[in-house]
Amino acid sequence: MAVPMVDLRAQYLRIQEAVDAAIARVVGSTQFVGGEDCRLFEQEFAAYCGARHAVGVANGTDALALALRAYGVGPGDEVVTVANTFIATGEAILLNGARPVFVDVDEASFTMDPGGLEGAITSRTKVILPVHLYGHPAPMNEIRAVAERHGLPVLEDAAQAHGAEIAGKRAGSLGHAACFSFYPGKNLGAYGDAGMVVTDDADFAARVRQVANHGAGKARYDNVVPGTNSRLDTLQAAVLRAKLPHLEGWTAERRERAAAYARLLEGVPGVVLPREQAWGRSAWHLYTLRVANRDSLQAHLTARGIATAVHYPRPIHLQPAMATAGGRAGDLPVSERLSQEVIQVPLYPELPIESLEGIAREIRAFGGAGA
Ligand SMILES: Cc1ncc(COP(=O)(O)O)c(C=O)c1O
Repeated sequence: MAVPMVDLRAQYLRIQEAVDAAIARVVGSTQFVGGEDCRLFEQEFAAYCGARHAVGVANGTDALALALRAYGVGPGDEVVTVANTFIATGEAILLNGARPVFVDVDEASFTMDPGGLEGAITSRTKVILPVHLYGHPAPMNEIRAVAERHGLPVLEDAAQAHGAEIAGKRAGSLGHAACFSFYPGKNLGAYGDAGMVVTDDADFAARVRQVANHGAGKARYDNVVPGTNSRLDTLQAAVLRAKLPHLEGWTAERRERAAAYARLLEGVPGVVLPREQAWGRSAWHLYTLRVANRDSLQAHLTARGIATAVHYPRPIHLQPAMATAGGRAGDLPVSERLSQEVIQVPLYPELPIESLEGIAREIRAFGGAGA
């Protein structure tokens, strides 16, 4: 058995004609920066999210950094977020000279625990930045209620959550604005790096677009605020446009596979399964088990040709790169425990059900052997 974490080639083969045509269209037009494909993908992805505006940028990290900049986040400011996430979430805050303030997560959803939020807000707080981790939405209703009491915007880190929902509303329309990554392995992935900021707020979208394009003013070579170059690549926009019509079908296939794992792994001793919370719909970016002896399970599966991953072995408040935020071991007990226990097993739309059954059998065998 040889099962990878994702199979981008299998995905390509399903949509080869549309992707090849999209790439040929851009190459033939020689419009490599900006143009119709960028403009239309922004419109189409905003519509998919149920939001009015979208600004394509170079990657998900830039989406976060530029969105925070557009909120005016700078030195002396604080952004409240979680440590149970990829480093980019915290990095985007540091890149603006601000300080990340970390709150713990709720172990049922792996996302921001709204219980800890109120106490983390100070007069310096500028933005609240929850993360929809592994495709599961953060409890946005509770988070927004706290944010509204303090007059703060909520920025969604939706890098892992294209198509996640709460009460029929999709990630991208659950906060004031949202940031997406289209890194190749994401639920909607480009053929390189790409990202997007989505919002209903036209002024905010215009500010993001401005800083992403050298702080451009109205006239050419009119640069009115300090900016950078972080535009969405046209080839990536064209590939993403070819893929977007398939996203809902792929999410359905992910959901079927998550349900199959849940059925096949129910009751395995020592293995805690991920659960979709009653109030949300997960986009199942990753299927995350919790096991006390995670490293032994990883070795067991690796020996049988089954790929696994650990997202993430260290919560970001304990990363050396975040040292200036002053995080210490023991600050965030749930995040710290999860980092010792979580392990991801393959889950992608093209994963053959027989492979999934084989993976489940191996996990059962491992659990039965006294996990
Ligand atoms: C939660 C989270 N935030 C931000 C990012 C950054 O996105 P990118 O890799 O496109 O910069 C990622 C993905 O890599 C992510 O998983």
